[in-house]
Amino acid sequence: MPAAPLRGTRIDHIGIAVESLEAILPLYRDLLGMPEVPLDDSDGARITGLAAGDSLVELLQPEQSDSPIGKFLARRGPGIHHICFKVDDLDGTLARCRDAGLRLIDQVPRRGAEGKRIAFLHPASTGGVLVELSEY
Ligand code: CO
Repeated sequence: MPAAPLRGTRIDHIGIAVESLEAILPLYRDLLGMPEVPLDDSDGARITGLAAGDSLVELLQPEQSDSPIGKFLARRGPGIHHICFKVDDLDGTLARCRDAGLRLIDQVPRRGAEGKRIAFLHPASTGGVLVELSEY
């Protein structure tokens, strides 16, 4: 079987922490015209996906205040929480980041929402952006 062609790093989704999905959904869905994409809840958050071409905006509303998104909201207020890049070689990319001295939140990939393998890089070593890496 031939190897899959390389697709290059792309934005998979942007995670946005919100106080209320119902309150913010009309902006993205109705005013900006982004179709809703059903997504599973994950990490103690209710998630609504909205398609922007091949990328998604994921609205993240905490279900508990002690969840990662709940803590983020309490500390920083609503706003962009993370950016997820899908990469051709997750293990290789994570190894390169480790070798470069970056602080990894996940030392090895874990299963995220939708069953994809993901890993997070700590914002302290990415210029302040919580970066999620995901596989195609
Ligand atoms: Co994400």
